[in-house]
Amino acid sequence: MALTESFVDPQESELADAFMADGYVVVDVDDRPRLDAFRHEIVKLVCGHLGCEAPANDADFLNRIHERVASADVNALRLAVFEGLNRMPWARPTYLSLARSAIDRLVGNELAMQNKVNLSIQMPNDLTSVLPVHADPWSAETPFEVVEWLPLVDVFDTKAMFILAPEHNRTVREAMSDLPDGGKSLDLFEMYKDKFHWVSVSYGQVLVFSPLLLHGNVVNAVPETRWSLNSRVTGLFTPYTSDEKCLGRFYSPATVKIVSRIGMNFQPPAGFDE
Ligand SMILES: [Fe+2]
Repeated sequence: MALTESFVDPQESELADAFMADGYVVVDVDDRPRLDAFRHEIVKLVCGHLGCEAPANDADFLNRIHERVASADVNALRLAVFEGLNRMPWARPTYLSLARSAIDRLVGNELAMQNKVNLSIQMPNDLTSVLPVHADPWSAETPFEVVEWLPLVDVFDTKAMFILAPEHNRTVREAMSDLPDGGKSLDLFEMYKDKFHWVSVSYGQVLVFSPLLLHGNVVNAVPETRWSLNSRVTGLFTPYTSDEKCLGRFYSPATVKIVSRIGMNFQPPAGFDE
């Protein structure tokens, strides 16, 4: 039958169900040659900082960067690549485009995006790059956002990030509010140790997850370096919960439709609003 009783297309429902069940989805990037080109530009920034020749194999070069860079120097490398990448006019548009079809289905087609694309480099056994368990709204980010998380190499086991499934997250708030200090002293990683799930993502895929769920990483015990990027995406017209992390400061408009532009610029004729 040509008629429909649903406002939502079946592919959107399928993705929404998976996101609701797991708190994330892992999908193929929308354009693999674009991902390869994007990674290659990042490798060029790395080589520019290290003063080395462009490698023959980008994946191998990134996976084995700990053979060239001491752990004391990794943050300087990360900052140089982060700053170089974020100076490029193609950085944010290319980044968003790689997960655009999933983000359109999960978030919407009028989007605001974090002003920066962040970079993590996690070398094997490097204690300095551990990100303790947390949820992003704890640092005043909007609960209406997702994180687009893109690995530049295959990630798995402790080389990946971990996330706590929605069913277990529901118990966290209760456990924290029962404590006199509001849960600050709670060792959440220890508490949910067996429940965290390491999200394997192959190069060529992108992870889109809800940062309302507890997540983080531990020391990378895989003998390869993790390289991953992340940036936050929210609906253009969703509420923000802080003045610090709002539209114009932390996020900026990414995909504004023409009718929204017209509406934003509309001025009623004099006397029209009386
Ligand atoms: Fe986070």
